[in-house]
Amino acid sequence: MNIAATEPKLSAPTEHYPVALVPRINIGIFCDNQQTGETAQAASIDRRMARASVTIQLGGVAAAAQVYESEATPNVIVVESHGDRNKIMSELGQLAEVCQPNTKVVVIGHINDVILYRELMKNGVSEYLVAPISAPQLIETIAGLFSDPKSAPLGRIVAFVGSKGGVGSSTIAHNIGWAISQRLNIETVITDLDLSFGTASLNFNQDGGGGIFEALTQPDRVDGTLIERLMTKLGNKLSLLNGPGGIDKEFNIEAQSVETVLNVVRHSAPMIVVDVPNLWAPWVKHTLLNADDIIITATPELPSLRNAKNLVDMLKAGRPHDRQPRLILNQVGVPKRPEIPAAEFGKALGLSPSAIIPHDPQSFGLAQGNGQMVFEVAPKSKSAEIMFDLAETIAGTQKPVKTSRFALPGMLQRLPMMKKK
Ligand SMILES: Nc1ncnc2c1ncn2[C@@H]1O[C@H](COP(=O)(O)OP(=O)(O)OP(=O)(O)O)[C@@H](O)[C@H]1O
Ligand SMILES: [Mg+2]
Repeated sequence: MNIAATEPKLSAPTEHYPVALVPRINIGIFCDNQQTGETAQAASIDRRMARASVTIQLGGVAAAAQVYESEATPNVIVVESHGDRNKIMSELGQLAEVCQPNTKVVVIGHINDVILYRELMKNGVSEYLVAPISAPQLIETIAGLFSDPKSAPLGRIVAFVGSKGGVGSSTIAHNIGWAISQRLNIETVITDLDLSFGTASLNFNQDGGGGIFEALTQPDRVDGTLIERLMTKLGNKLSLLNGPGGIDKEFNIEAQSVETVLNVVRHSAPMIVVDVPNLWAPWVKHTLLNADDIIITATPELPSLRNAKNLVDMLKAGRPHDRQPRLILNQVGVPKRPEIPAAEFGKALGLSPSAIIPHDPQSFGLAQGNGQMVFEVAPKSKSAEIMFDLAETIAGTQKPVKTSRFALPGMLQRLPMMKKK
């Protein structure tokens, strides 16, 4: 039975970027053709797979059965087979003889057959994928083997960074976080990583806080309960994890500490807006490379263009299986200032701007002075309208809701995994 023919509406989204991370496990992948080998190789060096230890070999199921005759089986074995239903089942029978009970097996096959799928599931195979597979698909499948189906899905980390100081990156991050939580009703946490000079507290008219400093200086103690305690509630569906906002404390931020803290924070809400300061340090690079989405705010001038280009090139090269960064051109139309036109700016970066926000000192100035958002002080302004569209784009709410495998009950949930992409 051909699944594509029986379930034509269950197509996977065309633009899909997994957020789940593969835990610290051992994975043995046994490919049966070069294309799958290359995909497995690409997946193994992806950021979401960085904790896992992966070995990739050719030879398919037979090679796996041979190798594990004399070696302990890893946490996950991925085997590819070009065989038909009977061949795959008999090959897996040999593998089953040497496979330890807690090892999970993922099969990559070349036939789209629901009876085979059911037989494999009945025999303890964790997942069946139809080749050709993509690297994100393989990563998501393996990560999914270790996620608790009862826990809420992981939050998406959206990092905002400016292409130079003062371009408006933080203000936009705060406004977008506010709009996503207050207008789109998605629980959001804004994390201000600009520990000394951060403006989140000022922009939301809050005193004190400093929770992120406490978390980053003791990452080993950070868990969901501590993060809840350190966050400031800014109203329904919006919380803030801010810095101390002063220069009396000296500290070194470690890339690993930021990653550890953000990985805890992302369990507390579906949307995590991260305000990344405009500076270059190993932890900043690491945080950007590991974000699910990156928003680069730039002003239409040469230094901004040069820096944005460097950022975009580095991010595109370091994140081949992620969405390209989004570009926001901000403060466009400052009177008497020569500016690089948006089209030229986008062309130089190979990215068309996702939003072009005008220079609007009245709305932004009033918002800043009041400790409010532009949406509150100038809801009818062009800036508010553009930022709202951007919030929808980032949250993914502007598109018609597609049927996804997560929305389907029972067995149907798994069927799209078998579809050729
Ligand atoms: N479109 C705009 N029009 C006018 N003023 C703006 C606009 N966007 C931001 N601003 C103002 O620009 C100033 C700098 O903004 P913000 O602090 O958000 O920049 P940043 O890129 O985060 O700076 P830093 O490098 O210091 O972190 C603020 O006073 C803000 O209100
Ligand atoms: Mg800032």
